[in-house]
Amino acid sequence: MNKIVIAIDGHSSCGKSTMAKELAKQIGYTYIDSGAMYRTVALYCIQKGLFVGNKLNLDALKQQMNAIHTTFIPNPTTGKSDTYLNGKNVESEIRSMAVAEKVSQVAAVGFVREALVRQQQALGTEKGIVMDGRDIGTVVFPDAELKIFVTASPEIRTQRRLEELIAKNEPTSFEAVLHNLTERDRIDSTRKDGPLKQASDAIVLDNSNLTIAEQNQQMLALFQSKMG
Ligand code: CDP
Repeated sequence: MNKIVIAIDGHSSCGKSTMAKELAKQIGYTYIDSGAMYRTVALYCIQKGLFVGNKLNLDALKQQMNAIHTTFIPNPTTGKSDTYLNGKNVESEIRSMAVAEKVSQVAAVGFVREALVRQQQALGTEKGIVMDGRDIGTVVFPDAELKIFVTASPEIRTQRRLEELIAKNEPTSFEAVLHNLTERDRIDSTRKDGPLKQASDAIVLDNSNLTIAEQNQQMLALFQSKMG
């Protein structure tokens, strides 16, 4: 059977990547985390001192865009792919609060989006992919055969992200995480290029009250009904 492109978009920390990863595994597709690509560029900006306080040096970033290479390499221990920045494993670092605080500012820059959207589209030419992000069903793959828009209540999303950070021994608070999610959603939804918005042909899935097993089951059912 012909493979399709599956686009999963939605709000910050609503479990898109868990859902997308599991669906890809079950149906033998490749999972691509577009958020990791934006997070990697944000990490690069932090490491290279391109932020002065809250101000991002756009001229320097523009000049250095071609020097930022993000790759995904399978990790045999976890069975998942890790994100690499210029050959260095940054999987854990890109999930830190320090990166979360800067990523939406970086992701709002037009030339950053242009470069990453091009890379994402190149990864999808063979189809058979599940990609999650904010603009996958609207900009990256507007012709994706299956589009899902995921959401959950801000409190539930905060609690889930807080547990992840605590498990990583990163000290933070409910209020700090809630503020970060709300702020990222605000910046992501109001930017000019590739804003976070539901594609008109996307199916909405609110997973506030679903267990991981239930959400996986719903995703699989959506895929199966699409494939007939
Ligand atoms: O895991 P979480 O939902 O919190 O975020 P993510 O998917 O890792 O994305 C991190 C950030 O990257 C988002 O808040 C957006 O600012 C940006 N992003 C984007 O602009 N476009 C995408 N396709 C994916 C992520």
